[in-house]
Amino acid sequence: MTTVPVSIGARRAPDDGSSTAPHDGPLVDRHGRVHTDVRLSVTDRCNFRCAHCLPDDDVAFTPRADVLSFPELTRVATVLRDLGITTVRVTGGEPLIRAGVVDFVRSLAGLGFADLSLTTNASRLAALAPGLADAGLDRVNVSCDSLRPERFARIRRRGELSEVLAGMDAAEAAGLGPVKVNVVLLAGQNDDEVLDFARFARDTGRPVRFIEFMPLDAAGHWDRAQVVPGREVHRRIHATWPLEPVGDPADPAPATRYRFADGQGEIGLISSVTEPFCGTCNRLRITADGAVRNCLFSDDERSIRAVLRSGGSDAEVALAVRRAVWGKRAGHGIDDPTLLQPRATTATATATGDFHHPRRSMSAIGG
Ligand code: 5AD
Ligand code: SF4
Repeated sequence: MTTVPVSIGARRAPDDGSSTAPHDGPLVDRHGRVHTDVRLSVTDRCNFRCAHCLPDDDVAFTPRADVLSFPELTRVATVLRDLGITTVRVTGGEPLIRAGVVDFVRSLAGLGFADLSLTTNASRLAALAPGLADAGLDRVNVSCDSLRPERFARIRRRGELSEVLAGMDAAEAAGLGPVKVNVVLLAGQNDDEVLDFARFARDTGRPVRFIEFMPLDAAGHWDRAQVVPGREVHRRIHATWPLEPVGDPADPAPATRYRFADGQGEIGLISSVTEPFCGTCNRLRITADGAVRNCLFSDDERSIRAVLRSGGSDAEVALAVRRAVWGKRAGHGIDDPTLLQPRATTATATATGDFHHPRRSMSAIGG
């Protein structure tokens, strides 16, 4: 069916139609969505163990030999640029714990993307921000799930709030602003901080983005009851500081943006679970072990590592990417309460084409 090696061990629907992918023109899927945005994961390792992402104990990370080297990643990025990708976000795991990441950012910056950013837990940001800015990084997104030190320690299980806040300051001082702050809300754990985070956005000018808890925790404990709906977050903030929408509803960015009506800052809502934005999705992901993942919630992956390491040409790498994008489903389906299957029934769920808890956690996909 295909002329290039395909995914090692990844599960794909037998008739995903990817062999009919176009060989030229824009990077498009069967639903007409043109893809211009890529998340490049440089490692699945992390020095934190956030409750919504990784288990606290032993985590099976990808063997280093299976992780793409920086020259391989740079080659992939070059192919992606030539396919029309304009926006690149470097992610992990935690990207800043990989040795050589600053030089990698420099080579990415040399490829001339319109927007080059990085998502980080900020544990090493204070030290690396000047180098990253010098390397040509445009912006950073910082994950921070609590503004209370003890609670930060409980949710993230490693690291300290103070170093994360210092990292944000350092990033701004280095010119990597505006720093966006990602907050994953977990019902009963940190959702009482919605107004504190809104105030933080107002006081610092940093857009705070409230993210619904998605079924991407490695432990597989996700439960719909823990999701704090974006519209609830809006209601609570709006009652204290009136909000007004910003921007174009057709914007493919996942965050729905609102500004404070008094002009003092803005927030974003990433309501992936309750209000999916699949219809305008223009994103794809490259995992650290070299798989193209066309949706956060789909295990239909296609390895390009095999293509890269078996002497494949750039055209073959490009075709593998095109096929992965072409095979993308219209939507992820987690907004339908009947679709998400618990892990125990994953095999059945897969066989029937129903949605199931993805096999990779957020740390292995890169957000
Ligand atoms: N649901 C939603 N967001 C998550 N993140 C990690 N795990 C989850 C999850 N299960 C967030 C991180 C980071 C971003 C890349 O994804 O906190 O901000
Ligand atoms: Fe690490 Fe980010 Fe996952 Fe937390 S959410 S464990 S910082 S990868």
